[in-house]
Amino acid sequence: MSNDKFESQNKMVTKVWQFLDERLKFSTISYDIPKHGNNLSYCLGGITLFGFVLLFITGIYMAAFYHPEVSEANESVRLITASGLGSFIRGLHYWGGQAVLISIILHMVRVYITGSYKKPREFNWLVGIALLAITIGLLFSGTVLKWNQEALEAYMHNVEIGKMFGTLGMLLTGTTETFNLLTRMFMTHAILLPLLLIFLFMAHAYFIKQHEISPLPWHKKTPETVPFTSHLKKLTAYGLSFWVILGIFALVFPSPLGPAPIWGIEVTKPPWFFLTLYPLEDLFGVKAILYATILTFILLAAVPLIDRSKNREPRRRKLMIAGLLIALTLYIVLTLIGAFTPPRVHIGM
Ligand code: HEM
Repeated sequence: MSNDKFESQNKMVTKVWQFLDERLKFSTISYDIPKHGNNLSYCLGGITLFGFVLLFITGIYMAAFYHPEVSEANESVRLITASGLGSFIRGLHYWGGQAVLISIILHMVRVYITGSYKKPREFNWLVGIALLAITIGLLFSGTVLKWNQEALEAYMHNVEIGKMFGTLGMLLTGTTETFNLLTRMFMTHAILLPLLLIFLFMAHAYFIKQHEISPLPWHKKTPETVPFTSHLKKLTAYGLSFWVILGIFALVFPSPLGPAPIWGIEVTKPPWFFLTLYPLEDLFGVKAILYATILTFILLAAVPLIDRSKNREPRRRKLMIAGLLIALTLYIVLTLIGAFTPPRVHIGM
């Protein structure tokens, strides 16, 4: 291309950019952020967001065909899987949900190790914990929706725990002839929890923007900066790779289903992400699920109160790091015990 032609094209592009920018204000998002914001460990929150976008898209597709009725739910999921791209889309949703939980845990571990829950970000840590609780709620309600044996048994655990809260609990979990239990689960999974998630994520993003990404704990000098647009590019690359990996999983390992459930028997174990609670339920009964969950969330919420020193360097927070290692080991060990324990009757349905 001749030099003149190249220059005139360049001028054209600049003019178009200026025209758009004057009206849409794109350049306002090219503010500076610390360069380490582009490290993979600091992109885990954004990767999680990409995961949720995929869950929303695939969830909307499946909601168009799902029947939230006990007599039809399992068959409707089977039909979704049998149609065109249905098996792939359900696979993306199935693997995406689990992958998002893993990326949230890794994101939390990064925030914890770099002491980013400390002043002035304590409140955003709490918002993050609420996001985690909602994600767990989405995983639970999603497990019930497919209405196989595992789903029925998960639902019966929900009812048992509801009973511990008396009338209020039964209002939330009990069934009546006029009120289909799967309609309620579907509403929770497809409307209530996603709305809460969006609302809380907006709060999370607002606080991240206000406080900026925390500086690296081991750097004393002012950090180098990069424009936020470069962070968006990096995130897009990570996010799309995340989608591709999930796509491969969806193609190679189609999500399992199993037949509609048989009432009155208890023969399955929960999916891996709830297996941690299985040995506790074995030892102490269903109430252990509730107490262990409440205790875990209280401890998580208390982290900024427990560790109030200004120090953010992990080497100078040995007790906190030891606490994290103990918690992760306990989580893995209980999950492994849960995986190897044979299925037992816990609630005697
Ligand atoms: C739906 C789940 C979540 C999403 C989509 C999300 C998203 C994000 C994003 C995009 C960032 C910017 C930096 C980064 O990616 O590391 C961030 C930062 C942060 N997140 Fe999350 N997050 C989620 C869950 C959590 C959880 C469970 C916690 C902790 C309990 C948490 C606590 C924080 C804190 C304290 C920051 C500020 C970190 C800093 O300034 O270094 N987030 N989050």
